Amino acid sequence: MSESTELHFDGRETILPSAADTEAFGFRLAQILVAGDLVVLDGPLGAGKTAMTRGIAAGLGVQGRVSSPTFVIAREHRPGVRPDGGAPVTLIHVDAYRLGMTGQSAVDELDALDLDTDLADAVVVVEWGEGLVEKLTDGHVSVRIRRDLDSDHRAVRLRRVHSADAARQVP
Ligand SMILES: Nc1ncnc2c1ncn2[C@@H]1O[C@H](COP(=O)(O)OP(=O)(O)OP(=O)(O)O)[C@@H](O)[C@H]1O
Ligand SMILES: [Mg+2]
Repeated sequence: MSESTELHFDGRETILPSAADTEAFGFRLAQILVAGDLVVLDGPLGAGKTAMTRGIAAGLGVQGRVSSPTFVIAREHRPGVRPDGGAPVTLIHVDAYRLGMTGQSAVDELDALDLDTDLADAVVVVEWGEGLVEKLTDGHVSVRIRRDLDSDHRAVRLRRVHSADAARQVP
């Protein structure tokens, strides 16, 4: 396993020099994901959130191509054969940016997707979801991607967040 695909949840950053490394990181992350898990991807425009989702999809072995949802805000990928031999699982890829991001209406729109229902049976990956989707589940994996302006490398940081902790952080 290369350094760039090791998983750390202790606040350490992993440097991702290329888009292929972003995908490889997602692939590796997928190996710890099971039905019911929520992954929240945060990072600025063009950070690599969709690229990482593509890697997660490959790691889960789901069907269909991952793209930036433009008109749809959530896309469902049917289960396939997991390369790690794990139980096949559906992937739901949500782009919360397209929800408008601000205010109660975004939460209402997310609720309208029935994510609650799907959460138990699927891995849900939300781009731009921090601060929005925490209330839909007990906990999630937070993935923060940062872009280094000098090198154009990305740096990623993983955290396991429990809803009670997230609620305490809200001012
Ligand atoms: N580690 C990396 N190093 C350099 N380029 C990368 C890296 N990861 C992804 N990229 C490139 O960054 C660009 C944007 O990636 P992507 O579309 O996944 O970002 P995004 O965060 O989903 O963007 P958006 O905010 O529009 O949803 C793509 O060209 C992708 O190949
Ligand atoms: Mg994207």
